[in-house]
Amino acid sequence: MKKILSIIAMYFAVLLVSTGTCTAGDTQDVAEGRDVWFKSTFGGERFFSFILPNPPFGLRIAFDQMLTWPRDSRFDEYGVINDPDCTPGDASTDYYDRCDDPESSGVIGIRKFTSQSGEAPLIGITCAACHAGFDPVNPPSDPNQPKAENIHPTVGNQYVQIGKIFQGHLALHDPRYQVFSSWAPGTVDTTLLQSDHINNPGMITPIWAVPDRPFFEVTINGEPVRVHRNGQGGEDDAGCELGALRVYFNIGMCASECMINHLANGPDGSQTPIDLEQCRSVCPDFLQAEASVEKLCAFLETPHPPQLVKAPGGAGFVDWEAVDKGRQVFSRACASCHSDGDRSIKHNVLSNDLIQPFSDVGTNSCRARTTNWMAGHIWAAFSSDQYKERPTGGPGFYRTMPLVGIWATAPFFHNNRLGHHNNDPSVTGRIATYEEAMYLLLNPEARDEPSSIQRTDEAVQLPTPDGVITLPARTPVAEFASTDPNSGANLCPDTIENKGHYFGSELTEEEKYALTEFLKTR
Ligand code: HEC
Ligand code: HEC
Repeated sequence: MKKILSIIAMYFAVLLVSTGTCTAGDTQDVAEGRDVWFKSTFGGERFFSFILPNPPFGLRIAFDQMLTWPRDSRFDEYGVINDPDCTPGDASTDYYDRCDDPESSGVIGIRKFTSQSGEAPLIGITCAACHAGFDPVNPPSDPNQPKAENIHPTVGNQYVQIGKIFQGHLALHDPRYQVFSSWAPGTVDTTLLQSDHINNPGMITPIWAVPDRPFFEVTINGEPVRVHRNGQGGEDDAGCELGALRVYFNIGMCASECMINHLANGPDGSQTPIDLEQCRSVCPDFLQAEASVEKLCAFLETPHPPQLVKAPGGAGFVDWEAVDKGRQVFSRACASCHSDGDRSIKHNVLSNDLIQPFSDVGTNSCRARTTNWMAGHIWAAFSSDQYKERPTGGPGFYRTMPLVGIWATAPFFHNNRLGHHNNDPSVTGRIATYEEAMYLLLNPEARDEPSSIQRTDEAVQLPTPDGVITLPARTPVAEFASTDPNSGANLCPDTIENKGHYFGSELTEEEKYALTEFLKTR
């Protein structure tokens, strides 16, 4: 039996290699990469525990509040995923839950490490903290009590309230509290800590069908590579390994050794690029991460999109008679962007992964304006030469998002603002969110765009170069959240969150219906 299995495994390995889609090796690598995805922080906990709470950041993330929240309502309260291998801790002896894995905090992807002073453990985060979510085809019967088989490693947690975890120790009148409050569930501004001074929370992108995604030939400092394009604006376009290393810096790796010194040491307190060569010489965690990312990326090639028909009762959510018509409408109205070309429909991820100027798409522009990957900026080492050669120096675009598995990941758009969250990860819950989002996508007149403006719920004390000013409650967050600290200019005064992408609005009712049914099957 074992032999047969290994022959089958070999067959698949050969298949993968022969289609040129697999970067690295065997199932052992994939298993190790999966472990890294769920468990490795590469020292980021020192950043969250010792550096971030102090100046110039002064931000103590409320991991403690979230981790001491009772397990039986922790998902309801924070949208996080309880680690199935833990039980509630005893408050007199444990800081957090009691877990089989001593480094588990009780929540998937949030890791705890003994502090030397014997105080509360240090907390670090892994990739899975944001990217793992409930399996759309095998959801838990109680989202507060998931089992291991209910967890999908890369669907992206559409329910996690990261803003709420970030704001827990801040006062209501602190502008940052109000900014964090304005983030939709399932989003985080990944340029908050290494800041471009633009508030641009992005949805946690699902990662699946990676081998089927289009490849791009780019150069990095003149060296050619053939890679997939990642990031909502196509910024992480230098390959999975470099992209993953960037995220480790993003979540605190080597912060004191070779990251925070680049935040503001340029002329006028501007950023300078992280220097990978210098980092290698001063930060052992970086060497360890470099040695792990190939396996991590081998793992990221393996997840498949969830198929609604495989979910309990899933086929019953599709009007099969409309699917063929929907496919035709799709190829006429959407496939110019949402198709990877001449591949068989079976492997089509429904995206060309090309980038469009944000003005052509018309969705909220703040995410497209990010500057961190430009030449001279903190993440310059992680974007291609071609990114930096864009007429804008890099920013200004949105990448066409793949639509495979889209039935499971509504609300839509880079900011998760088209449609409403219902905090219900059951198949019924996901389909309800999807159908509403599709309706709003194709019927823009039903959107009520002004109501998507995020506003403060309290007067805010805003520090400015001329002293503190008070902004009244109900001020649009976008009026102050993207203020350049040097010039005082608003870097993204774009207030409406659910506008844009009006493609398909001219279709008939019948065509819109068919399109919605067709996409449920992809
Ligand atoms: C704090 C939450 C968070 C953590 C932790 C996190 N990510 Fe992400 N990830 C995101 C968000 C949000 C996006 C979308 C970012 C964007 O483009 O605006 C994203 C996007 C990505 C993408 C791009 C997918 C695509 O199709 O464009 C990859 C790849 C990725 N992350 C890998 C990782 C890796 C590797 C790690 C661990 C080192 C990690 N992420 C940790 C939130 C997170
Ligand atoms: C001109 C290219 C283009 C065309 C045509 C187009 N799209 Fe898109 N689509 C995009 C881009 C770019 C995005 C990302 C926009 C954003 O997130 O702000 C996107 C995003 C989406 C999303 C949200 C994905 C997510 O993960 O949230 C859906 C759903 C979608 N498109 C469906 C369609 C459908 C259906 C059609 C045809 C009626 C269509 N699109 C036509 C470029 C296009």
